[in-house]
Amino acid sequence: MTSGMDAGRGPSIDVSHNGVVVTGNRSFRGVVTAVEAVMGDSVLVTLTAPRPMVRQLRSGRFFEILCRLDRFYDPLLRRPYSVFTADPEAGTLTFLVRPFGRGSVWLAARAVGDEVDVLGPLGNTYEIVPRARNLLMVAGGVGVAPLVMLTEEAVANGLQVTFLMGAEDAAGLLAPAHLPELVEYAVATENGTRGHEGFITDLVPEYVAWADQIFACGPEPMYRSLRTTLSAASSHPGHPIQISMEQSMACGVGACLGCVVETKRGMSASCVEGPVYALEEVIW
Ligand SMILES: Cc1cc2nc3c(=O)[nH]c(=O)nc-3n(C[C@H](O)[C@H](O)[C@H](O)COP(=O)(O)OP(=O)(O)OC[C@H]3O[C@@H](n4cnc5c(N)ncnc54)[C@H](O)[C@@H]3O)c2cc1C
Ligand code: FES
Repeated sequence: MTSGMDAGRGPSIDVSHNGVVVTGNRSFRGVVTAVEAVMGDSVLVTLTAPRPMVRQLRSGRFFEILCRLDRFYDPLLRRPYSVFTADPEAGTLTFLVRPFGRGSVWLAARAVGDEVDVLGPLGNTYEIVPRARNLLMVAGGVGVAPLVMLTEEAVANGLQVTFLMGAEDAAGLLAPAHLPELVEYAVATENGTRGHEGFITDLVPEYVAWADQIFACGPEPMYRSLRTTLSAASSHPGHPIQISMEQSMACGVGACLGCVVETKRGMSASCVEGPVYALEEVIW
């Protein structure tokens, strides 16, 4: 197949990649190949995607997904989703979708064979520093999504990963089978139905000395707690803790400024300069 698309960049109109129709600059129509229940009420939705783009994709980037049928206009705006896993051989992307609003409920209800309009990849990536050997992941709820892909990249490169995940209850936790075998996995639930009873940030101190780098994704209160927990741990000079911000987004391409994050460098459009930021850089 010919490809007019370079890693998701460059104008491409109606070029076919492994059965995927690229409909414009960085957008394509993926076909749903699998839908799997996960983490209570959430689902993993797998879509076909252009192989050249999937091959070059790195963790942290996200896609803006049109969560409606073509002939409808509600919800008008695309919804941002991190990549849970990417399979370059199959040419697929898997998204973790928690249904709670109009767009996410629509996306979670897709069936195998449905087409979905997708824009991306967008945003920046997590960065593993070259000398890091031990990585600590801290995930809260659906924030687990980009950290699974980052973990797969790290393990493929021979790095050690400890994965911490927190949820309200046991049903909201990711099953260990979704992580590579070599990963140490520890969990916390707020109601104590599995693992540590309390918040996942409670477990972080015991891994701080071991970790060369820390990556996190979750709700804002988790980041505040992480900042407090780690304020005494200045053990990562030059290796800031990298977090993924989940601001509400409209355009996803830096045009509307609906997603700005206040940082020590000034206001930052998180869809372009983020969603990954250094924890200490963000002002709350
Ligand atoms: C970079 C990025 C990556 C994301 N990755 C994922 C992912 O992998 N999986 C996933 O399930 N979700 C993810 N999200 C969140 C997802 O985009 C929202 O859940 C989705 O936009 C909600 O759309 P909706 O139409 O269902 O809800 P809406 O109808 O737009 O909103 C319903 C209600 O939820 C509130 N709301 C909307 N978005 C958020 C939000 N992000 N946080 C808190 N409250 C919100 C609204 O204010 C409203 O009250 C990500 C967000 C960003 C910015
Ligand atoms: S979502 Fe429009 S500028 Fe970021």
